[in-house]
Amino acid sequence: MKISTKMKKTLNDQVALEASASNNYLAMASWCEVTGYQGAANYFYAQSDEERTHLLKVVHYLNALGAVATIPAIKSPASSYKSLEGIIKTALKNEQTVTAAIHKMVEIAQKEKDHSTYAFLEWFVNEQVQEETKFETILQKFDLLGRDKLGINEIDKFLAVEASASPEPAV
Ligand code: FEO
Repeated sequence: MKISTKMKKTLNDQVALEASASNNYLAMASWCEVTGYQGAANYFYAQSDEERTHLLKVVHYLNALGAVATIPAIKSPASSYKSLEGIIKTALKNEQTVTAAIHKMVEIAQKEKDHSTYAFLEWFVNEQVQEETKFETILQKFDLLGRDKLGINEIDKFLAVEASASPEPAV
């Protein structure tokens, strides 16, 4: 099966976007770990792994079609962050960017009548709804529980529970 050059390029761009997300979440996890937010650290380590499974899905898809995935260089992530709330806001923004990129790919697949890629992307469309909701829910906690030390500690505990509930990433 063949995909267009344009479709191949956008899928490869998506590999880079997912790789960058994985790297950013790894940096966030590391910062949380040294700052004492153990629950958030676990949460972001798991999130980083999850992003890697997303990029692998695209790599496998491209390779299965004989289109050959391009493994990208990744830009250095931030090494320091201002606050846990700031991290969650950045994560939500990142997910919104990924959602927009996926929707754009869906539009290209539709336009090109590339039914295979269209079907492949359906999983990502649904996944992004969950990804954005996850971070919106965490952000809401800052209003509900507060931004003082006790509030942040409760949010960290919430993230610890979420991290332990998240399934092992499967590729
Ligand atoms: Fe791979 Fe969080 O989107």
